[in-house]
Amino acid sequence: MSDGRETLVVHDAAELVVGPAEGDGSDAVLETVEDAALVAVGGEVVAVGPSDELTREYPPENAGEAIDASGKAVVPGFVDPHTHAVFAGDRSDEFEAKLRGKAYQEILAEGGGILRTVRATREASDDELLEQLLAHLDVMLARGSTTVEVKSGYGLEAETERRMLEAISRADEAHPVDLVATFMGAHAVPEGRDAEAYVEEVIDEQLPAVADQGVAEFCDVFCEEGVFDVEQSRRVLEAGADAGLTPKVHAEELSHLGGTQLAAEVGAASADHLLYATDDDVEALVDAGTVPVLLPGTAFGLGAEYADARAFLEAGAPVAVATDFNPNCHSRSMEFVQTLACVEMGMTPAEALLAATRNAALAIGRDDGTGTLREGATADALVLEAPSYAHVAYRFDTPAVETVIKAGAVVADDGVVRS
Ligand code: NIG
Ligand code: FE
Repeated sequence: MSDGRETLVVHDAAELVVGPAEGDGSDAVLETVEDAALVAVGGEVVAVGPSDELTREYPPENAGEAIDASGKAVVPGFVDPHTHAVFAGDRSDEFEAKLRGKAYQEILAEGGGILRTVRATREASDDELLEQLLAHLDVMLARGSTTVEVKSGYGLEAETERRMLEAISRADEAHPVDLVATFMGAHAVPEGRDAEAYVEEVIDEQLPAVADQGVAEFCDVFCEEGVFDVEQSRRVLEAGADAGLTPKVHAEELSHLGGTQLAAEVGAASADHLLYATDDDVEALVDAGTVPVLLPGTAFGLGAEYADARAFLEAGAPVAVATDFNPNCHSRSMEFVQTLACVEMGMTPAEALLAATRNAALAIGRDDGTGTLREGATADALVLEAPSYAHVAYRFDTPAVETVIKAGAVVADDGVVRS
C-alpha cells in the first residue's frame, strides 16, 4: 500500500513500455500496457498495469509524488553502455579538418585525436575532471540516460588512468545517474612509445593499480590497425580478467582486424562498433553470448558506413546501442542515437528502444531488470511529451523526453536537472 513520501505514482499513461516482449506468440518486440500506471516504492517498481486498477490500490493523492501522464507514454530510463565521458580539452577544430577530408587515423598519427585529449587530461586537476564529467552527466540525464558506462583511457599511464576512474567513482556518488566504470589503458599507444612495450606497462603497472583501486568493473581495448593488434589486445584482456575485470572490445571500427572473434573467444560482455564485422563475426558473437553494441553516432560523425544492425538482429543477437560520447563524437543523447539506429541502420523504433534500454543493460552486465519497468526493477522511467514510444526515434528536432525519474524520484523536467 502507499506509504506517503516514498511512493511515486505515474498514472493514466497512454502507453507504458514494460520491457522486452516474452513469448506472447506475436512478433512484438516490446511488452506495452495502454491506459497504464506505474507505482514505485522505495525506488523500486512495485506495480505496473491498468491505471484504473492501480490507482484504486495506490491513490495518487496519497503518494509522495504523482504524475498525471494523460496523453503521454512512459518508457524505461535509457542505458548508455559506451562512453568516454571523462576528458579535458576541446577538439572542435578537428571537426573542420575531418570535413576537409582528413582521416581520423591521420589526425591520430600526427599526435592529434586521442593523443591530444591525453595531454589535456593529464594536465587537468582531479576537480576539473569531476566538474566536466558532472556537466556532461547533467545533459545525459536530462535527455533520459539513467545509467551510463564511462571509460578511462585518456591517461595512458597509471596515475592519470587511476585519476579518471576516481572521477567516475566520485561522480557516481554525487550524481543521480548510475555509473559503470571501465578501465581502458589500452586506448592508444602513447606518443614516442612502442605498442609492445606499452602493452607490458598496461599489464604490469596500470592493471595492478586499477585493480587495487577497485572502481573499474570492465577492461576495454582499442583493437585496431595501427593501435593494438589482436594478440596484444588478447594479452591485455586476459590480464584484465585475471585481475577481475570483464573484457570488452572496440572491434572492427575503422577496419576489419579480428577484434570480434577475440571478444567471443575471451567471453567479452560486449564487442562495440562492428562497422566492418563479417557474417562469421556475427555468428561468433551470438554463439558466445557477447552483446553487439552499435554506435551510429560515431559513423555519423565520421561520415562512415554504418554497422549492419539487421545482420545481428536476424541472427538473434540482443543488439544494443550507445552514444560513444567522446571528443570525436560529441553526442550525449540516446534519443538521437535511436533516430540514427532507425533511419541509418534500418531498426524499428521498438528495436531501437530495446537496444537503448534492456539490451544496453546486458552489455554492461546488468541483467537485474535495469532497462525495464518490471516489478522489482529500479524505478528508472521517462515520461514522454508524446503518446507513444515511437516518438523517441521519430522526433529529431526537439527531445521527446519530458520528465526523468531515477530510482522513483523525479530528477529532471523539460531538459533541466533538478538541483
Ligand atoms: O570509440 N576508438 C577509440 N575510441 C573512441 C574515440 C576516442 C577519441 O577519438 O577521443 C571511439 O570512437
Ligand atoms: Fe569508444
